[in-house]
Amino acid sequence: MARIVGGVTTSHIPAIGLAMAGGNENEPYWKRFFAGYEPVKEWLAKVDPDIAIVVYNDHGLNFFLDKVPTFAIGCADHYENADEGWGLQTLASFDGDVEFSWHLAESLINQDFDMTTCQEMLVDHGFIVPMALMWRHLPEWPVQAIPLAVNTVQHPLTSARRCLALGKALQKAVESYPDDKKVVIFGTGGMSHQLQGERAGHIDVDFDLQCMESLITDPEWLAGLSNSHIIEKAGTEGIEIIMWLVMRGALQANVNVVHKHYHVPVSNCGAGVLVLENAEN
Ligand code: DHB
Ligand code: FE
Repeated sequence: MARIVGGVTTSHIPAIGLAMAGGNENEPYWKRFFAGYEPVKEWLAKVDPDIAIVVYNDHGLNFFLDKVPTFAIGCADHYENADEGWGLQTLASFDGDVEFSWHLAESLINQDFDMTTCQEMLVDHGFIVPMALMWRHLPEWPVQAIPLAVNTVQHPLTSARRCLALGKALQKAVESYPDDKKVVIFGTGGMSHQLQGERAGHIDVDFDLQCMESLITDPEWLAGLSNSHIIEKAGTEGIEIIMWLVMRGALQANVNVVHKHYHVPVSNCGAGVLVLENAEN
């Protein structure tokens, strides 16, 4: 049976990709931020997953604003990088697992999550930056990857509560797959940031830290917030934090914190990373 070895939530800020592409990790601006990922890499090396399910939002590259599915899952055997050109084109494309993807899609749809199934899917920084932060692997990635896209760009958006429920359905979907696969779930996006308008550059450190704490001990708190409240606190693009709840929902009620790190600012955002494992394995 497939099983979830744990989850990671992380920001996916494009400037991180640019810093990696330029080899700037040890510069004073970046050093502390990247140091926060060393324990994540060590944990991943230890648990050695076969598959990463990457929950992210497309930023208008694969889905343009004329057609935006609320939830979409990749059902392809590989995924190409189509990011805006932050130097990330040097990264290898990503192998998928079509059979597992179709199983997940079928199980999620049977649990009333009406996924759009994508037999072709281009991925952007929302997906690529986390993958590169975890492995930065050339010429190929050490895991197969499955993109799961949540619309956090074009309103009306789904809710934090629905994202938590999607995670719970995802856990059932993974654990009903008969093959032995070790699966890690990545929830990406956030933390607080607003890229445009009068509040451009808005960051709320207290809210970011509250969100991280909620993910650990009380996901219901974040799940209970309305989108307008989250946007008021975290910024218009800070709403991406709802995708962290998909990862959390896929874990058990009680989790152990393997690693937690927060750094501000990165570009114009709060940047956090959290690694959680199920308390009962
Ligand atoms: C930026 C873009 C993002 O998608 C994000 O999540 C954070 C920051 C940016 O363009 O700076
Ligand atoms: Fe984003």
